[in-house]
Amino acid sequence: MPKLLAFCGSTRRQSFNQAILNVAVQGAEEAGAQVTVVSLADYAMPIFNQDEEAEQGIPERAQAFKELMVSHDGFLIASPEYNSSYPALLKNALDWASRAAEGEPMMQAYRGKTAGIMAASAGGLGGLRVLVALRMLLENVGVLVHPNQKAIAKVDTLLNERGEIDNEKTIKQLKKLGADTTKLCASIQAG
Ligand code: FNR
Repeated sequence: MPKLLAFCGSTRRQSFNQAILNVAVQGAEEAGAQVTVVSLADYAMPIFNQDEEAEQGIPERAQAFKELMVSHDGFLIASPEYNSSYPALLKNALDWASRAAEGEPMMQAYRGKTAGIMAASAGGLGGLRVLVALRMLLENVGVLVHPNQKAIAKVDTLLNERGEIDNEKTIKQLKKLGADTTKLCASIQAG
């Protein structure tokens, strides 16, 4: 059973991206994955600084988040598009996770892992451009990103009063993304 870690590039209350991530998580679970959902708000870490890293080591929360990534087989990541790319919050967490403490293998949070990526925006492109940037980043550090990705446009029109996705077609698409990521992860595990 693949173990997936699900996290979002926004910590906004009522985040659209958290809402789409929650649906993809359901799809992954229905396909047999064991999914851990975390908020980057619980892993607040300083902006990466190489001098501070050399002097003080990897901060506790950055190390904890990295270890969580290491202990999972793949990732479900939803991210807003900020000025055509990923938010600093997400990039910073991913940068810290790429750092090895003394004695740790390089890039163990990433190598051999799979990911499913998605974005949501009230705009007409749904944050499509962040997926280009995020896919490139993840592939460059050794993560196989599933070709199925979703950018949900005009997401503010697809929610119910609790802020959950309430549109049949969108739910189907996001669940499929979660299921597809699970299957890819399982097939890699099976060798
Ligand atoms: C945005 N937003 C935005 N939207 C978009 O579709 N393309 C973009 O390039 C940007 N750029 C951008 C920059 C910054 C600094 C902010 C704060 C916002 C709008 C963004 O999609 C919107 O705030 C979403 O609600 C953020 O996602 P969450 O927090 O709802 O998940």
